Amino acid sequence: MKLPVVAAAFAAAFIATSAQAQDVSAGERSWNKCRACHQIGEGAKNLVGPQLNGLFGRHTGAVEGYSYSSANKGANITWDEAVFAEYIKDPKAKIPGTKMVFAGIKNDKEIADLTAFLKQFGKDGKKM
Ligand code: HEC
Repeated sequence: MKLPVVAAAFAAAFIATSAQAQDVSAGERSWNKCRACHQIGEGAKNLVGPQLNGLFGRHTGAVEGYSYSSANKGANITWDEAVFAEYIKDPKAKIPGTKMVFAGIKNDKEIADLTAFLKQFGKDGKKM
């Protein structure tokens, strides 16, 4: 009879550990740095920058109706966690000529948290 309790405790510990590795609410605070230029979520529109729904797995320059620089459009990158981490540290180093004016986020933990926040949103802007 004790087994389910043990299993639940184990699951709780596991969830706590992964939440510590990537903290969505901290990522949401970090997203404040992007909000002047980007939207995400249901009904997200292109602003100064393209909407960022379903970013991971998306190709650079893929948002319809957004006027990318040729640098971004031609970067030929598929966004995954590793590429995104490199990019967001220093956008102009990863995509020379990008029109994204952003100094970058240098802290790996903050990048991981921001990634967790962004990953919640599917192509349609709904949380997955
Ligand atoms: C000052 C405005 C501004 C801020 C702040 C900003 N961006 Fe951008 N971002 C842009 C613009 C403009 C582009 C399009 C770049 C181009 O076409 O060269 C872009 C492009 C991107 C792309 C490439 C999208 C694609 O479809 O290829 C990603 C990813 C991105 N931004 C993520 C972020 C994140 C995450 C943040 C916050 C940490 C952020 N940006 C902050 C303006 C901004």
